[in-house]
Amino acid sequence: MSHDTFEIEGLNGESTLEGTIAVSGAKNAALPVMAASLMVPGETHLQNVPDIRDIDSMARLLEKLGAFVTRKDHTLSIGAKEVTGSVLDSELSKSMRASILLAGPILARFGQVTFPHPGGCVLGSRPIDVFLSAFRTLEAEYSENDETYSISAPNGLSGGEIFFRVVSVTATETLMMAATLAKAPVTLRNSAMEPEVVATAEFLKACGASIEGAGTPTIFIRPSHLTPQDQPFAIIPDRIEASSFLILGALAGKKITLTGVNVEHVFATIEALSEMGVGLEIHKDFIVVSAPKKLLPINVKTHEYPGLATDVQAPMTILLTQAEGESTVLETIFDGRLNYVSELVRMGAEIQLWNPHKATVRGRTPLKARDIDGPDIRAGLAFILAAVSAEGTSHIGNAHLIDRGYEKIEEKLSGVGLLIKRK
Ligand code: EPU
Repeated sequence: MSHDTFEIEGLNGESTLEGTIAVSGAKNAALPVMAASLMVPGETHLQNVPDIRDIDSMARLLEKLGAFVTRKDHTLSIGAKEVTGSVLDSELSKSMRASILLAGPILARFGQVTFPHPGGCVLGSRPIDVFLSAFRTLEAEYSENDETYSISAPNGLSGGEIFFRVVSVTATETLMMAATLAKAPVTLRNSAMEPEVVATAEFLKACGASIEGAGTPTIFIRPSHLTPQDQPFAIIPDRIEASSFLILGALAGKKITLTGVNVEHVFATIEALSEMGVGLEIHKDFIVVSAPKKLLPINVKTHEYPGLATDVQAPMTILLTQAEGESTVLETIFDGRLNYVSELVRMGAEIQLWNPHKATVRGRTPLKARDIDGPDIRAGLAFILAAVSAEGTSHIGNAHLIDRGYEKIEEKLSGVGLLIKRK
């Protein structure tokens, strides 16, 4: 793939970055809302949609099902009236885990859906058992053949009580969406409480759905008729992107101002950075962050929202390599999300990996530039942060993976003074 590498001039531990970075709309809110639009028989208009590859992939998946998708800057319109397809494109579905979000809306609207095992970032095993057993509770039947699933509920989904065995963001969203068109009320228990779940519920409610409790573990959905809205729906700011740039500021910022932040959504990151001694000025929708003279070590543990997001774990670990003393990192959500550590060690970090979930980081260790490939969206971004701190010129490959989740990352970073080029 051409132009798939970022070349970054490291700052050799200096904190010189200065300026403003605008946070984009949230990938993980835009994706379920786009999926939900399939249940709305008419046109949906979305604002503040990030210009990233996963949105392109979701748009193409919708088009393959018969939807009309138009996009200009950060607005996106989806016409779903003519949609008739219920078979997800195999190649696109395998490129993105979020393709599973379409299973709920399609099944609810057409009584059947066929899709391959969804692909996406390799963060450990990513099963879909929770989705399948929840669909079964709503009296859908499923069959599996060569990792292709067919689910059907020809007479519609029933109501019922679903208890999620594990807290899952996309399973909560998928079942919440499907339940709006079920024949009777549905209660979801042990639901994910992420802001993206709430945003999806807000979109559905704006289209006439009856949903109570989104953002709590128990969500109650009554069947409703969804109608298109003339008013555009605004996608919430990306809390993972905001957290990543807060960490950049803590690592190398003379003074970085992050605009368009929902401060409440990044409390866990703010709390961790404050503990480390990072200078933060918090305003209503913007935050000013500067690197301190000395970073203090801390113990971090990823957790479902409102805890520290697993998507922030790799960037946070880079920061911990620059803290004076010993920190621990406990990854509780995925079993493959510390795999990037070996590359960091090659850059000079002192990290002991005890098991797939626990690492000890000893700092402060200066980092040396390297040529490495990012393994997924978030670890790729973390490698960019490591390259920023390092001495020398690094090349971070697999830029296309970073582009899946971060809009124009090189423009945003060169805007605060980093020498970064796409090659
Ligand atoms: N799980 C199961 N069975 C299932 C579903 C999930 O065991 O059927 C397990 C997973 O293996 C994992 C845990 O449940 O151990 C939580 O995973 P979850 O289902 O919540 O993850 P997800 O919905 O697939 C979303 C985000 C991820 C983010 C996680 C955790 C989207 C599109 N993706 O994934 O974002 O890491 O929640 O917060 O919302 C990213 O943006 O780079 C990304 C990976």
